[in-house]
This record gives sequence, structure tokens and C-alpha cells, in this order.
Amino acid sequence: MKISIIGTGYVGLIVGLCFADFGNDVICVDSDKSKIKLLNEGNCPLYEMGAEELLRKNLYNKKISFTNDMKAAVENSEIIFIAVGTPEEDDGDANLSSFYKAIIDVCQYVNSNKVVVNKSTVPIGTAKAVRKLIDSELIRLKIDYKVDVVSNPEFLREGRAINDFLNPDRIILGSDSKRAIEALMNLYKVYKRSNKPIIITDSETAETIKYASNAFLATKITFINEIAELCEKTGANVLEVAKAMGQDGRISPKFLHPGPGYGGSCFPKDTKAIVKTAEKFDVDLSIINSVIRSNERQKRRCAVKVKNEITEGTLAILGISFKPDTDDIRESPALSIIDELYAEQKYCFKIYDPQAMAEGKRYFKDYINLSWHDNAYDAVQDSDAILIITEWNEFRSLDIEKLRLSMRGKTLFDFRNIFPKDDVEKNGLLYIGTGV
Ligand code: UGA
Repeated sequence: MKISIIGTGYVGLIVGLCFADFGNDVICVDSDKSKIKLLNEGNCPLYEMGAEELLRKNLYNKKISFTNDMKAAVENSEIIFIAVGTPEEDDGDANLSSFYKAIIDVCQYVNSNKVVVNKSTVPIGTAKAVRKLIDSELIRLKIDYKVDVVSNPEFLREGRAINDFLNPDRIILGSDSKRAIEALMNLYKVYKRSNKPIIITDSETAETIKYASNAFLATKITFINEIAELCEKTGANVLEVAKAMGQDGRISPKFLHPGPGYGGSCFPKDTKAIVKTAEKFDVDLSIINSVIRSNERQKRRCAVKVKNEITEGTLAILGISFKPDTDDIRESPALSIIDELYAEQKYCFKIYDPQAMAEGKRYFKDYINLSWHDNAYDAVQDSDAILIITEWNEFRSLDIEKLRLSMRGKTLFDFRNIFPKDDVEKNGLLYIGTGV
């Protein structure tokens, strides 16, 4: 099928690459000219396992192309995905200006019947508003073709995006148009053949499924983080608690890993956005509200643990991305923890991250007493304490004795619990984890 994707951020790019790999003809549109040039040359602007290989393969096969030309993209596609960013406003609401601009731009170039698919995470009720906007634009522009709207939220995770897209737990299609659902079912026939659940519903339900799923996962993480705090006070071990809880099929072990709090471009934004939407309908989502507060507290609790143990000195920071296998630092707990400690003006920071240093240098560009290192051992050299904030695999194989010998102090804050406490203590370091 001929499709175009408006927006080449995480979701847009990965979805485009995977659809191209399924044999569709894909045109990706973005207003960022340098990004388009980079992509057409086969260079992936984001760090995502397998993305560059897929990009090069599908450019070579002429199944995907990248352009700034919205007109050519729309005119040459039957299905148009909107996958632009919906960033958070100061009050927690989602900012839909790029999203609506994309819809208006698409309308101008409608030259046959089309299906507009919404992949961006947008507040509940947006698809209905899009329907009205498209109808009025088509009348204004005197265009006599049908443009149907489908809500098709995406559930892929950064760092595993391609695998998640190829092996989805479910596909959600929300629309009142039979024609549009048929077009999407045809596009997703690969999944139908492999018996992946395809759920067809109305657009409000589809939009709610996306927010409710992210809010529930954020709640699960926050729940175990609170239990971790309790374990620290009672002497229980949260890892054993989580493992045993997870063995109950009704609970499942997934998303029960305690840590410094959830981050990234989705959970923090989407939890606030669903609360905002609910407020407009006079509904108090008190659980999600307290999850948001508790997650902020979890990040502060990490900084307080450091302040209580190390009153001043040099801190080796291992990992600043919001999770491993990504260079994304948006809403990363590492930023809040460093910021809180930096405000004390008593610490120097020696930072290492396997992929996120370029992003980190941009974020911390005006900070002093902060240096960047080529590997974990260099960052740890002469430090008073080590803070493991992101659980990159390469940190799991660090030689604890070597760390102890090269550092000045003796404290290891393992906020992701990647090391067994006993191993660290056997090597003469003080171990401070999360709930262990
Ligand atoms: C999340 C969802 O998992 C995806 O299904 C969804 O498509 C995506 O948001 C989105 O809405 O676009 P993502 O933000 O890429 O994906 O990352 P996750 O793997 O969900 O992790 C989010 C945060 O939770 C990270 O900071 C991670 O370290 C933290 N986390 C996760 C924990 O602290 N403990 C866990 O057990 C799991």
C-alpha cells in the first residue's frame, strides 16, 4: 500500500521503517531539512537497535523515502499517518499545535479518497475534533473527496521499538468509518495472519486505551517504588517481594523493577495529560495524581540518600538516559537527581553514559564542576561515591574491586539494583540500593 507518515520522531520513523519492511511504499515527511538529508543518506538520527540497518535496506529497496514536500507525500498516498510530537504544556495539557497544523496541511493536498490515521498520543476526544476540522477544511477548500479518520495508538518502547512493532500485544483501531477500518485491516494483514489481536472500537475508546495503559504501567512502577521504601525501613528485600508478587499470574513480573522513578517522553507527560482530561470532565483520577507526586518524591529520595551519606565531594554518575538502550534523556531521573545535588554547590560530577553524552552535554551546557568521561572506570577515578542511575548492561559487568581501588570514597549507590548487595560489600564498598 502507499502510505505517508507525517513526523519522523521516534514513533513516526520506526513505524515508517517497519511498514516499508512489510513491503509498503512509504514516504516520511518532516519539516526539519537537515534530518531529512541525514535520513536520505542512510543515517539514523536516533539511537535505536536495528533502525539504521532497516533504514539502509529499505532505502536501497526504494520502499521508503524522506521529504519536506507534504504535497507530494499526500498526493501519492492512500493512508496518511500523523505521528508528530504532542509535548506537555506548563499546565500538563498536551500541546496539539503541530498535530492540528499537520491535519490542516494534509487537507490542502487531498486529491483522492484518503484515510488519516492518528498515531500521536492525543487527549481523548481529539479524533472527533479532527473529524470536524477535516470536514470544515474540505468544504473551505472545495475538495470533494472522502477523508476518514482512525485512532491507532502505538505501544512501542524506545530501545526495543522495532521488536515491539513487529510483535505487538494488540493493535487498536478506533473509528466509525467502515471504509477506513478495512483499509487499516489490509495494512495490518501481516498481524491478522499471525493471530495478533486487532481490536476495533470507537475513537474515544482507542484514545483512552493508550493513556490508561501508560498510566497503569506508571502506577505499577510507582507501587513497587513505594514498597521499596517500606522495605528499606523494615529490612525486607524488595527484589524478593517483587519476584514473589510477579509469580502471581494476575500481577505478572513485568514493570515491577524498583528504581529512581520512571522517566522518558511518555509516562511523565501522559499521566499528567490524562489527569488534565479527567479534570475537564469533572473526574478526579486520584490514583494517577498520587502516582505523579510519588514519582517526583522517588527522584528526590535518591538525591537525599546521597546527601545523607556524602556531604560534599566528587560523584561518579553512571548512566543519564531515562533507561538503557536509548540516547534519550527526556525526563530522565538522572537529570532531577543531578539538579537537586548540584543546587547544594558541594559536589563535582564525573559523568559517563554509553549513548546519551551528546544529549547530556546539551542539557548541562551551563553547569560548572561537571566533566564527561569515555568510560565508567574513568568517571569513577578519584570519586567519593558512584551513582548508578541507568541500568546499562555494560555496567553489570564492571569489576567491583577495580572500582574500589580507583575511587577515593567507598560508597556505591545502585539505584537500579544491578549488583548483588553481598558482592559489593564483600569487596569493601558500602552498598545503597533501592529497597534492598
Ligand atoms: C512507554 C510504554 O512502555 C510504551 O508501551 C509506550 O508506547 C511508550 O511509553 C509511549 O507512550 O510512546 P518508553 O517510555 O519507551 O515506553 O519506556 P518504558 O520501557 O516503558 O520505561 C519508562 C520508564 O519506566 C523508564 O524510565 C524506565 O526506567 C522505568 N521503569 C520501567 C522502571 O523504573 N521500572 C520498570 O519495571 C519498568
